[in-house]
Amino acid sequence: MAYRVRSCRTLEEWGQAVAAIGHYAGWVPTEEQVEQFAELLPPERLHAVFDGQSIVGGAGAFDFRMSVPGAVVPCSGVTVVGVLPTHRRRGLLSRMMRAQLDATHERGEPIAALYASEETIYGRYGYGLASLRQKVSLTGDRAALSYGTPLRAGSVRLVDKDEARRTFPRLYDRVRRTTPGFFARSGDWWDLRRLADSAESRGDAGPLNYALAEIDDRPVAYALYRIAQKEEDAGWKRRLHIIEALGADTLGTREIWRFLLEIDWIHEIRASLLPVDHPLFHLVARPDSLNLRTETGLWVRLVDVGAALSARKYAADARVTFEVADPFGPWNAGTWTLEGDTVRRSRRRADLRLGVTALGSAYLGGFSFRELAAAGLVEEFSRGAVARADAVFAPIGPAPWCPEIF
Ligand SMILES: CC(C)(COP(=O)(O)OP(=O)(O)OC[C@H]1O[C@@H](n2cnc3c(N)ncnc32)[C@H](O)[C@@H]1OP(=O)(O)O)[C@@H](O)C(=O)NCCC(=O)NCCS
Repeated sequence: MAYRVRSCRTLEEWGQAVAAIGHYAGWVPTEEQVEQFAELLPPERLHAVFDGQSIVGGAGAFDFRMSVPGAVVPCSGVTVVGVLPTHRRRGLLSRMMRAQLDATHERGEPIAALYASEETIYGRYGYGLASLRQKVSLTGDRAALSYGTPLRAGSVRLVDKDEARRTFPRLYDRVRRTTPGFFARSGDWWDLRRLADSAESRGDAGPLNYALAEIDDRPVAYALYRIAQKEEDAGWKRRLHIIEALGADTLGTREIWRFLLEIDWIHEIRASLLPVDHPLFHLVARPDSLNLRTETGLWVRLVDVGAALSARKYAADARVTFEVADPFGPWNAGTWTLEGDTVRRSRRRADLRLGVTALGSAYLGGFSFRELAAAGLVEEFSRGAVARADAVFAPIGPAPWCPEIF
């Protein structure tokens, strides 16, 4: 059977391509959902695989601007990847990944990024694990700020969606600019995704709450959260789902978390997309009661090694020469020298040899070359090269963090 892969041309095709991943969640997009979602992911950025006239799989790529150390770069935000169960394990995902990577390369987007619901899949296409995320789950009665935390500053107001729309994006952007892994949100993104409160997104919880923290009438932080309650044998259980809580500075972060931790009647507080260096661990009285669980975060692929490495900034300007293997993106394979802030193809003897996946893991600063070498993912040819590469790639800001699964 001959299958064809191409990008979608109509909204009808769009709906069918997204329905492939939707199948696994029991979700068939309505006409209205197709129209809205296609505002964010236009048909030409969604690949479909055809079996005759039928679409049996889809793979999309948002047009992101992603923060990387010291810069913001175009990034293909890979999303809604699915193949119908009737067509699994026939190489259709690989065909779509091929077409998508080629299209990304042609458009000149130097990196691609994704959240993987199956972390075994994407390494073969050159994606490396680039950040970790922390999940916290603590019982309400153990959620207190640590001894010595300064008294409350400012106040928190519950605002409506319009006021959230006016105030939250600016706070988000302040964090975004300096945090690798954040992507810029368009107005449509805020309206249709982050601030939207559809019946499906509620699940068994109540409405989306928009909380704004202010100090001297100046917005400093916000939180998006829902509360769910259910009756159990022992009585009512109430859970606070923190969807996003961001402070534009230290004080803002502390005050929004104080607010969230102190809400009455809550038995369990959950947040699932915190970075590994989130200050919460130091803010709470009982760090153990956070029940921290670490999971994979963003996966990053350097689509164009030279452009991607030249786009970010570095902590030191030592020279390092990498020999890069990239079977799925052969245009990247070969030897590259990083010197100052630029990267060029090179004839020098390599200091380090690694796959493009390991380079993707190091790119945002989430993993060091020492860690990657210890796992056998980086080979050192000249003495001290791993340490030198780590000095060059050392963090120049916070740990990578992407606060939203896309
Ligand atoms: C995961 C999914 C997209 C795979 O599609 P597919 O067309 O069956 O994949 P392919 O046949 O192209 O397989 C490509 C490779 O990935 C491997 N693979 C596929 N699905 C896998 C899975 N769930 N776990 C581990 N490996 C997987 C295949 O074994 C194959 O390996 P190979 O290159 O060594 O031969 C499809 O099964 C699906 O839609 N699943 C549910 C939704 C989902 O998980 N989407 C991905 C979200 S991140």
